[in-house]
Amino acid sequence: MKILYFTGTGNCLSVAKCFEAELLSIPQMIKNNIYEIEDDVIGIVYPVYAVSVPDIVRNYLEKCKINANYTFVIATYGFTACGSLNEMKKLLKSNGNKADYYSSLLMVDNYLPFFDIEKQLKMLNKKNIENNLKTIIEEINSRVTKETNCGWINNLISSIGYKVIKQIEKYTPKMFYVNDDCILCGTCKKVCPNNNIEQENKNKPIFKNNCTGCLACIHNCPKNAIQMKLQRSKKRFRNSNISLNEIIKSNN
Ligand SMILES: Cc1cc2nc3c(=O)[nH]c(=O)nc-3n(C[C@H](O)[C@H](O)[C@H](O)COP(=O)(O)O)c2cc1C
Repeated sequence: MKILYFTGTGNCLSVAKCFEAELLSIPQMIKNNIYEIEDDVIGIVYPVYAVSVPDIVRNYLEKCKINANYTFVIATYGFTACGSLNEMKKLLKSNGNKADYYSSLLMVDNYLPFFDIEKQLKMLNKKNIENNLKTIIEEINSRVTKETNCGWINNLISSIGYKVIKQIEKYTPKMFYVNDDCILCGTCKKVCPNNNIEQENKNKPIFKNNCTGCLACIHNCPKNAIQMKLQRSKKRFRNSNISLNEIIKSNN
């Protein structure tokens, strides 16, 4: 089994790690120019962004050929996945791929302009992550087939929402600023999947214009020195099963 994954704060990697599989980070696949994957079973684990699919995942899957007897998709999200799985289905189809199983998993929402991490962590039990994930794993291990079942309204919201929110998200890096707690350690640069951060010598990080919006730089800063305008929380998040080194290894 092989699993393609993308992660900013570890939720997707924590899910991918629950399977006995070779884990393939999408940013690494892009850097190594690998656009064909073959195995008996192939999984895709991605975070819902803007009720749709993150651009970095889109850009990769638009080119990648997936050859498998059974393919599954798991979207992790924090509030509503809406029609994201349907967007994924269209994306796979556009490149001649298809999946046999689609599911989504409610986890901690890391999107700071909308959610307070403190409150999200308090709600962890209510999200019932372990049990829901157990069901998904059992279904996948039994090779169950499952359609997207998002409903046409959700599908419509996701297909329009993505286009609208994509325009707004262009401004994401402009919302970042670095305070004097920055120790110039370069962690932000190392966790950025898009090579979008410059940090050299005694200069604070500079955010360029190729941001995928994952917030890995903000959430993984060891000094909480990167702030976001409109953030709802000073607290930061990284999935408790995932280390900083694992995020760096995935994205650097
Ligand atoms: C830019 C951005 C947009 C997001 N949009 C949504 C969304 O539309 N719906 C939702 O439920 N969660 C949304 N989220 C939350 C993530 O999908 C969720 O926290 C996910 O589990 C993060 O996975 P990761 O830890 O592997 O990065 C968004 C997060 C980011 C950073």
